[in-house]
Amino acid sequence: MIIGSKLYYEDEVDSTNIYAKSLLKTASDGTIVLADLQTAGKGRLDRPWYSPVGGIWMSVILKPEKPNLIPVLTSVSLCETFMTYDILLGLKWPNDVTLNKKKVAGILCEVVDQSVIVGIGLNLNIKEFPPELRHTATSVFIETKKSFDKMAVFQMLCKEIDYNYMMLKGDHVSHLLTKWRHYTIMLGKDVMIELPGRKVTGRVLDISSDGGLVIMKPDNTIERILAGDCQLVSMEKATRDDHAKPGT
Ligand code: BTN
Repeated sequence: MIIGSKLYYEDEVDSTNIYAKSLLKTASDGTIVLADLQTAGKGRLDRPWYSPVGGIWMSVILKPEKPNLIPVLTSVSLCETFMTYDILLGLKWPNDVTLNKKKVAGILCEVVDQSVIVGIGLNLNIKEFPPELRHTATSVFIETKKSFDKMAVFQMLCKEIDYNYMMLKGDHVSHLLTKWRHYTIMLGKDVMIELPGRKVTGRVLDISSDGGLVIMKPDNTIERILAGDCQLVSMEKATRDDHAKPGT
């Protein structure tokens, strides 16, 4: 197994992504940094990531030929891991994993030179969240009222990432996309995506072979979005908000 062939397991780090970055020059494909606690965990768009003891905070160093599909690969691997516990997670493009409509895991991919640092934050046994996160975040413990063996979940996740990474290396992209379509909560839903300098609204049709989101806009044209901040909305509200803020 490539994934986890080298493991750095720490009690406490600032951020496993930062730690992983410091290893990049010598690290082999599949090296993992895992920590019990992060003091400066970071999410997408420079948001802080709540990382107390109880979660799985890890970064995987990958050297893929197709970095665009790494978030798809990782999110599908999280879903497959929890299927072994009969827990159905949902996927929200580009990087959120949900359980009962709340965010249970997030993925932060950072491309540095030829490598991708895949940061995975999984709210596993977290008992409660600070008030400002309670409406949007959850943990597997909160939703199932069960504690999970962290290392068993970690090992299963490594196995799933390894399998799906082999699929990607073997160019079996359609296999990954089919699984993403199976787990996503977005197909047929209306979304508003914030891009630099503009907002796009539309109905989700599919995921593209490079991991983009394919949407149909209100004027019936189709657009493929490669990156952006995405929210599920009612189309009526989305178009109303769009018109209310010209130029955004
Ligand atoms: C997001 O949804 O915004 C992405 C969250 C990613 C959090 C993980 S926790 C492990 C790794 N180290 C970090 O500092 N961030 C990622």
